Amino acid sequence: MYKQCFQRKSVRQYMEEPLAAEMLMKVDRIVKKVGLLYNHIPMRIELVENGEKIHAVMSGFLGSYGKIKAPHYLAVISETKEGYHENVGFAVEEAVLKLTELGIGTCWIGGFFDRKLIQNVVEIKKDEKVVVLVAFGKEKRGIWGEGLRTFAGFAKRKKIEEFAFWNDLNGSVVEYMEKHPEWKSIMEAVRVAPSAVNLQPWRFIFREGRIDIYAKSGVSPKISEDSCLYRIDVGIAMQHLSIGCLEEGIEGFFERLACEVFPGHVYISSYVIRR
Ligand SMILES: Cc1cc2nc3c(=O)[nH]c(=O)nc-3n(C[C@H](O)[C@H](O)[C@H](O)COP(=O)(O)O)c2cc1C
Repeated sequence: MYKQCFQRKSVRQYMEEPLAAEMLMKVDRIVKKVGLLYNHIPMRIELVENGEKIHAVMSGFLGSYGKIKAPHYLAVISETKEGYHENVGFAVEEAVLKLTELGIGTCWIGGFFDRKLIQNVVEIKKDEKVVVLVAFGKEKRGIWGEGLRTFAGFAKRKKIEEFAFWNDLNGSVVEYMEKHPEWKSIMEAVRVAPSAVNLQPWRFIFREGRIDIYAKSGVSPKISEDSCLYRIDVGIAMQHLSIGCLEEGIEGFFERLACEVFPGHVYISSYVIRR
């Protein structure tokens, strides 16, 4: 999926026609098989074949985000145990990249849908929540679709040294990346990960034998603190990190350690490298 990390982009304009039944079956198989970050937090991805049902629960134009009218959606439902946001980010991004491989356009939708009304579309149990939606379908290519993306500046990304550090949140990673080009290509895959309002809130502190992963929290008035979209973003970046490591033959695993806490940042997990 390394290649798909770079091919994926948010698609906001879709052809009205639905995907072929065979393709929808493939999507269904993909979403049923995604791997979780935390196996103890049950979550599922439901395919909403009839997109019209979702259009009815999406609220109007807000900021640079409009209604995204797609023929189909994925509804991501999870139990709300500690860590469920990054669990969702990690798992759903696997599906998004596999749909990209099939030539299907996708867009994460974190806000502006009525979280109560959506219960009329998908069934959810008492301790569950619809966390996010993913619009998907055939991309409507043309001046307007592409133009909108460029105009809103959505595709811009931070430089690696703006989100990755050596030993401390101030330590420069430049020299380390020069000495370890494999980590540079891994971080390039992380760099292009999607995030809500393109905030790229993930922070990586490289240390001897591990990388500590943090979320910069409360970074935008556009995102309410309690929606915790930044934790979803970090889960997505962790998926890109693990894909990059696989590509470079670096083995490791995620583990929550007793790491230093920095003001304005939430510690999420560490990637421990197997020697
Ligand atoms: C958790 C999350 C929520 C998002 N919510 C929305 C949304 O509600 N509407 C929208 O148009 N884009 C949404 N996006 C897409 C981002 O704006 C997009 O990923 C970012 O601007 C980077 O652009 P790219 O995906 O084309 O690389 C969301 C992305 C993520 C990861």
